[in-house]
Amino acid sequence: MPWRQTFNSYYIWLSEVILQQTRVEQGTAYYLKFIDAFPTIEDLANADEQYVLKLWQGLGYYSRARNLHFSAKYIVHDLSGSFPSTYKEILKLKGVGDYTASAIASICFNEPTAVVDGNVYRILARYFGISTPINSTKGIKDFKELAQQLMNSNIPGTHNQAMMEFGAIMCKPQNPSCEICPLNGGCVALEKNTIGELPVKLNKTKIRKRYFNYLVVKTPDGKTVLNQRKGKGIWQNLYEFPLLESGKPLEEREVLLHKSLDSLLPKGAIKIKRFKGSAKAHKLSHQHIFSTFWMVDLGENNSKAISWNDFENFPVPILIHNFVEELKQTDFFSTFE
Ligand code: ADE
Repeated sequence: MPWRQTFNSYYIWLSEVILQQTRVEQGTAYYLKFIDAFPTIEDLANADEQYVLKLWQGLGYYSRARNLHFSAKYIVHDLSGSFPSTYKEILKLKGVGDYTASAIASICFNEPTAVVDGNVYRILARYFGISTPINSTKGIKDFKELAQQLMNSNIPGTHNQAMMEFGAIMCKPQNPSCEICPLNGGCVALEKNTIGELPVKLNKTKIRKRYFNYLVVKTPDGKTVLNQRKGKGIWQNLYEFPLLESGKPLEEREVLLHKSLDSLLPKGAIKIKRFKGSAKAHKLSHQHIFSTFWMVDLGENNSKAISWNDFENFPVPILIHNFVEELKQTDFFSTFE
């Protein structure tokens, strides 16, 4: 883990934000890409948001990248570039919660603040046999207190990282290595055979199903159209093909008759055809997205269209990136390149 070689708070912050909701194996490549592109916090603060989002592409939870960028600008411009150095001050940064603030304060500034991430919840719930839901108010408070009591204040950063790594490698969600676990003598869940049931998590979220119909425009001069997603919600500020959202899958006829079609597409006679690709549901934490790509031939050129060579500069949701990769395997581009 490359971030183990440094106490630079900017690098630790970056690594911990990337590692939220992301496994170490996947996160490492992104971390290296980011410190290469932005070696200092000033470099990140001065970057274009579009470029930051482009480097983040594929990691998901894009608000993490936008908040990272926002807070970098705040630190550089309002705090004269000096990173806050206490848990309390770090917690004030946009996008930084208890987990990230504890990790940075302990690793970089030796403050004995306990990190409680998914790994730590799992270890504590199992070892002490605690069935309080980890996402309940009481659970959040109790587990933080317990983690804090266990903190080795001589080595806060090492202690926290050891807890997380122990959870990731030994006390895994599925098939934990209980036979060789050094704590198997005192683990309540192991003794009571409740490893599979702990930790308990309340199921609060209902999964919403959404149907995205992307209109992949092709103008006579071989260009296409991208729009930027605005407003709150997923993929804010990322780019995408003109989108018709529907409550169910649409037939070709329904796309052509859709009341929003005219406002979405540049004028001109159109021909459409469904792209028969290997589309599967894109699963986010609160919603499943079913996407269909419609190849749209426009009769006229359009000044707002972009060339496919520029496409790579735009940050796009990974399902759009994957679609374009699939499109490259067809003869679509050979007809006009
Ligand atoms: N997961 C997230 N941050 C980590 C860290 N600093 N060490 C080990 N695992 C982690």
